[in-house]
Amino acid sequence: MPKLTIDGKSIEVAKGTTVLEAAAKLGVYIPRYCYHPSLSISGNCRMCLVEVEKAPKLLTACSTEAAEGMVVRTDSEKVKAARRDVLEYLLINHPLDCPICDQAGECGLQDYYMEYSLKKSRFAAADKVTRQKRRALGPHLVLDNERCILCTRCVRFCSEVTKTSELEVMERADHSFIDLKEGKALDNDYSMNIADLCPVGAWTSRDFRFKQRVWFLKKTPTVCLGCATGCLAEAQHNENVIYRVMPRPNAETNTWLCDRGRLAYKAVTAGDRLAKGFIKNGLIDLEPALREAATRIDEAKGAVAVLGSPWLSIEDNAALAALAIEAVKTENFCFDFPAEQGIKDGILINKDAAPNTAGVKLVKAARGGISLEELSRRLLAGQIKVVITEARAAGFIKEALKAAAPRLITFATNRGEIPQGAYATLPYASYFETPGTFVNYQGLKRRTEPAVTPPEGVKPLWGLVNKLAAYSGDSLHLNSSEDALKGVKL
Ligand code: SF4
Ligand code: SF4
Ligand code: FES
Repeated sequence: MPKLTIDGKSIEVAKGTTVLEAAAKLGVYIPRYCYHPSLSISGNCRMCLVEVEKAPKLLTACSTEAAEGMVVRTDSEKVKAARRDVLEYLLINHPLDCPICDQAGECGLQDYYMEYSLKKSRFAAADKVTRQKRRALGPHLVLDNERCILCTRCVRFCSEVTKTSELEVMERADHSFIDLKEGKALDNDYSMNIADLCPVGAWTSRDFRFKQRVWFLKKTPTVCLGCATGCLAEAQHNENVIYRVMPRPNAETNTWLCDRGRLAYKAVTAGDRLAKGFIKNGLIDLEPALREAATRIDEAKGAVAVLGSPWLSIEDNAALAALAIEAVKTENFCFDFPAEQGIKDGILINKDAAPNTAGVKLVKAARGGISLEELSRRLLAGQIKVVITEARAAGFIKEALKAAAPRLITFATNRGEIPQGAYATLPYASYFETPGTFVNYQGLKRRTEPAVTPPEGVKPLWGLVNKLAAYSGDSLHLNSSEDALKGVKL
């Protein structure tokens, strides 16, 4: 456990801790470009130089291990001069792109120049080395080589995290540039993380670039619902429009996001987003759709089944359980979705494509119910005339639905989710628009928060359930997501 002093403050750290990490523990920020906590140390940018007593030269804090008795200064005149020199060097060939660069507002070069340099360049703009600009590389990214500072974070990400090794530094000295290796395409499942970890505007996201200046974005914590991993994420939005989803790095689950999960937010404003109900294939206002669905449920009393969904929050599953038990008064309800869980690619993507298999178990524990097999059996035996469920969950009993052909009443956010043959579909608010509780494959409870408001008239699913019951003359008293959770032990 070496004990060292940084800017006059003492700290004892575990063996192997670097000076940069030890400083962070003391709240001392050391500027860095090539260092990234989840990648190997490269030590190439020299932005983290610090003065260490008795060392003949400045040392890179990111690659220097803390040692017993070390006395480090991060704020001496020598260190400040070195930072100015490093920035001057990095800016020699950097283009004057800031006004049109998508990274403006979150750019490591802009920020450090303002904080540590403000030095006038001694090099004429006309002497800058020019490089290739704006190349689409892969389905999600654009590369501007002129803006690159050769920190190699992108190269290390592809070789160490995705292990796909698509990128390489080509050539030498000031001819160096980042490029694809021959025969490779930048289409791995995590490619968009490269735009996040590039400290400058060299890599930008094709989905996000030029859509919004970053300083206008508001940030709402959320959870990715793309699979059972339940990565922590952040929805970034302005004026009721989500522009991008970024990871919320955490020790338990994720540093990164997969591209599919990151882009799932697009369903919120997709062309097939539902703002009205469907009866058979015809669009209909929500209230008449609810009335029609309630009439069909009343008609079939005694032969109605309710199926929960691992794509829905605990609140919405609990509301469906209340509908089955307290309003429809049926024993034909199921909140049991066995699924194999675990990371399937060694990074983040889960074998279980549904986000709340573990959360639905809590509803089952509180309210009981039958198994999927038993539900299918009852369907095939002709005991069930109406099935109420979320659109994707209908897939669990697809064969039985096809054979028994009951009236299927589904809840969906997008038209593309509606199963074939659905009798009625009711639109509900997505989890970017309403709070919800989920439990990931590790058993960790995760919560979504509303970032934007749903299309006019669209309500949370528990609210629709409340209305369905009311149209049948029953009151479930579900006036909030907290009401829906009553009786379920989280
Ligand atoms: S493109 Fe970005 S991440 Fe890659 S080396 Fe250049 S500056 Fe670093
Ligand atoms: S791994 Fe799963 S939870 Fe994580 S970002 Fe991808 S889809 Fe979302
Ligand atoms: S952050 Fe230490 S050398 Fe780049």
